[in-house]
Amino acid sequence: MGALEIKEAIELLKKGEAVAFPTETVYGLGADAWNPTAVQKVFEIKGRPPDNPLIVHISEINSAEDFAENIPEAAARLMEKFWPGPLTVILGKKASVLDLITGGLGTVALRCPDHPLALELITEAGPLVAPSANRSGRPSPTSPEHVMEDFGQDFPVVNGGRTAIGLESTVLDVTTTPMVIYRPGKISREELEKASGQRVLYEPIKENRAIKSPGTRYTHYAPDATVRWLEHEGPGEWKEALYLLHGSSPVAGRNIINYTGDFRRMASELYDRFRQADREGFKRILIQQFDPVTLDRNPIARALYNRITKAVQA
Ligand code: TXA
Ligand code: MG
Repeated sequence: MGALEIKEAIELLKKGEAVAFPTETVYGLGADAWNPTAVQKVFEIKGRPPDNPLIVHISEINSAEDFAENIPEAAARLMEKFWPGPLTVILGKKASVLDLITGGLGTVALRCPDHPLALELITEAGPLVAPSANRSGRPSPTSPEHVMEDFGQDFPVVNGGRTAIGLESTVLDVTTTPMVIYRPGKISREELEKASGQRVLYEPIKENRAIKSPGTRYTHYAPDATVRWLEHEGPGEWKEALYLLHGSSPVAGRNIINYTGDFRRMASELYDRFRQADREGFKRILIQQFDPVTLDRNPIARALYNRITKAVQA
């Protein structure tokens, strides 16, 4: 099958099949959120642990009420401000939401993606569960080619070219006070505080983490090549390494990619570079560390730091 017309994709989704589609962040593996067989297929195709819950993608704010109970004022303000866009909110779930989706949690994750093809699919086929369209443990896909790399050339994917942002949405738990960011993304803590009028923290305390944010328990974003912070490496010359640098002055040399402070471009390319390293047989990917001031000032640098740290620890 491979590349799909949007009409074919809608038909497949209505029939309970899973289809990959573009969003502004990464490609999602979509399936009808009200069809348990379809949702089950998503777990099987990805090889995803059943207790790692899925995000439900909707095309308008009103649909949030079909999945969530008691939507707090502050959460409603955030949806108004940032949807459609790269923000996922975790809310108390309605009893009717499939347990398969939420991994048995009392909460459900909702997001309205900012991409015309994604919105058309949802409008026509209904709300879709959509994890990133990669095999579990592989980097998220930012192009149709990445999806086919993981699921085969014949896998149905709606072609939207390369995704704009390249890193997954900010995941925010709005059921807690203060609210908590489980996964940093393009939308920053400061923006969330300003729009909600409430305090927002990064990351739950360690003990709570595994229970409230199951995603943080699993290995993520790991290429086959070993990922390391450049500064943590010994002085040895790594001939078989791909270097990703972002300092203000570019460094010349083989296999060195310079982003010179352009964190947006670095974010949009990171997962492609991970996959490139594997295709080209690099043993290591060495990435320049971020300084605390940059992390504080730049939400995309913080999101990059988060994903790279996971790859380093994998
Ligand atoms: O940008 C994105 O969010 C992409 C695109 C396709 O929309 N989707 C995505 O989905 O990244 P996924 O499944 O790869 O990551 C969803 C994260 C996981 O870490 C999961 O554990 C967490 O959201 N999550 C989902 N439901 C949750 C819930 N009820 N409570 C806490 N965490 C939840
Ligand atoms: Mg994922």
